[in-house]
Amino acid sequence: MPRILTGIQSSGSPHLGNILGAIRPALALSNAQQEPSFFFIADLHSLTTVRNPQELKKNTLEVAATWLACGLNPQKDYFYRQSHVPEVCEFTWYLNCFTPYPMLANAHSFKDKSANLANVNAGLFIYPVLMAADILLYEAEVVPVGKDQKQHLEITRDIAGAFNRQYGDILVIPEPLINEQVMVIPGTDGRKMSKSYNNYINIFDSEKDLRKKVMSIVTDSTPVEAPKNPDTCNVFQVYKHIAPPDEVESLRQAYLAGGLGYGKAKELLYEAVLQNFQKERILYQELMQDPAQIEKTLKQGEEKAREVALKVLNRVRKAMGYY
Ligand code: TYM
Repeated sequence: MPRILTGIQSSGSPHLGNILGAIRPALALSNAQQEPSFFFIADLHSLTTVRNPQELKKNTLEVAATWLACGLNPQKDYFYRQSHVPEVCEFTWYLNCFTPYPMLANAHSFKDKSANLANVNAGLFIYPVLMAADILLYEAEVVPVGKDQKQHLEITRDIAGAFNRQYGDILVIPEPLINEQVMVIPGTDGRKMSKSYNNYINIFDSEKDLRKKVMSIVTDSTPVEAPKNPDTCNVFQVYKHIAPPDEVESLRQAYLAGGLGYGKAKELLYEAVLQNFQKERILYQELMQDPAQIEKTLKQGEEKAREVALKVLNRVRKAMGYY
């Protein structure tokens, strides 16, 4: 069975897009196999945007609780903070030296921000190289991610290829795994759901806040009685990933028939979120009551992960002539 690995930044609490696009598909794959997978909190990546230590700590705790509430099994899988296996930084340096400048200059994650270069730090520029190191250091074979990470996976494969051409078959070349149906979950304003756009739905919010967020989803001004297009409606585009298939179909028909207001559709979405994530919401609250236990779980995972990382890194160091 292939080795699975994926990570989530700790630049905010994980949102519905992270959960549907990465966490759930990754855990579904992993829980169907005996072999351990690698799941981590990309807290070094989040330093490109989060500078407040308390905020960083809080985000990290929330990401950890989210993984666990969604079903990660720390007895089987490797579960760790990126920063607590610092070998990844050394490895990033080696990989930097195999990364052509134009490849990074063309990365969307950089290009999107390059209109305002004074605000772009070098960390943001080499972000994809750190990501490559995350993947290659643990010899991941399959990396489940949302569509926005596709280019980063291509960069990872290119860097690994360049390294192997120089030193022989040292690094494992990974494959991305992108679920076409949940490639991009829209946010409340219709753009990709993202921490940086502040348009996200946090499934662990209080019922009141969650309802408010769902009610704020932007819709068009089609009158209640007119037929509506479910495929262009932000509410339906989230609902279809959350509600049971027969209910999705009946809402689709109600859109097409007319007579359904967007307010009603939003109510249905709110109820569906509560229903679908009932178990996770309870577990999450329990986990957040005991941060010391989460810390302990992560520490144990980090010890195990470090052993794997060191094995690969030693092979890399030797191949390069450092040892
Ligand atoms: P991050 O933290 O932005 O997002 C984590 C995962 O959630 C997916 N995702 C989405 N999927 C569908 N719809 C959305 N609206 C949506 N928003 C986010 C992302 O595609 C991602 O899979 N660079 C990565 C973190 C990372 C990583 C890695 C991932 C660091 N190293 C190594 C995989 C392997 C990131 O910023 O993801």
